[in-house]
Amino acid sequence: MQNVNEALAHRFGAPLPGVRQDLQSQPFWQQLANRRSIRSFRPDPVDAALIQTLCALALSSPTKSDLQQRDIFIISDSGVRGKLNELLAGQAWVAKAPAFLVFCGNNHRQRLLHDWRGRAFENDHLDAFFNASVDAGIALATFVLAAEAAGLGCCPVSAIRNEAAEVSALLNLPDFVFPIAGLALGWPSEDGEISLRLPLSVSVHTDRYEASNLREAVETYDQRRTGIQPYEKQRFASDYGQSDTYGWSEDKARQYSKPERKNFGAFVRAKGFNLD
Ligand SMILES: Cc1cc2nc3c(=O)[nH]c(=O)nc-3n(C[C@H](O)[C@H](O)[C@H](O)COP(=O)(O)O)c2cc1C
Repeated sequence: MQNVNEALAHRFGAPLPGVRQDLQSQPFWQQLANRRSIRSFRPDPVDAALIQTLCALALSSPTKSDLQQRDIFIISDSGVRGKLNELLAGQAWVAKAPAFLVFCGNNHRQRLLHDWRGRAFENDHLDAFFNASVDAGIALATFVLAAEAAGLGCCPVSAIRNEAAEVSALLNLPDFVFPIAGLALGWPSEDGEISLRLPLSVSVHTDRYEASNLREAVETYDQRRTGIQPYEKQRFASDYGQSDTYGWSEDKARQYSKPERKNFGAFVRAKGFNLD
């Protein structure tokens, strides 16, 4: 594992000024700086008690207004897991993960509180969906970091939202509960690699939004990434051909040149949310 400075300099393409010497090997910082998604696992199971502990750690993370609008589903039934694997057949590696969880936003409990306490729910607008989504995302990220600190590997799977209605039926989700992402979990059988990120000058702003050099910065990032981590396969090559300069920006532009999850809004509305 690289120290904090080395790992961040590699990830962001430039050394950071002033990472204090005594924090260079701070274990949690070092883990964060070196983190990577893992998609290949040893077959060994992940202990159920460990997963429960990780859920508790994940749910120790901040939650908007203490509303606690996120739930974690541990998939233990082989029938349910098999059906999820079928829904995720496009990502065959998922089926080989020893453990799988689904993170959901949950605004259902909040609405029940209003029924129980006889108080009107006067926040039936986009914020209700947004707050629960953010809460679930925070829990997902915290679970990932806690799992990685225990030596586990994991990778979120937003592809479950491609089949949101089916996943919802499978998990018996009531109105106002919706899947955010799955999480494949297990003991890593690969090292994975640090994924390079856009430079901090692009995604960290001081006081005001500033993007005057964005295009140049993205081109430089494309070249750096292609030099170190070239894409193994070009997306939609049958439609767009093979590019000699294929990089991150071309990959992302190709990715969202095709519709994805077009019916997710309809699914969320059918769950009862008002998105206005
Ligand atoms: C909400 C969310 C959903 C994701 N869904 C998928 C997915 O469906 N399939 C997949 O292979 N990776 C998925 N990922 C992993 C990302 O591709 C990965 O985080 C990104 O490529 C950066 O790599 P790193 O995590 O190793 O830094 C997801 C990540 C997040 C945060």
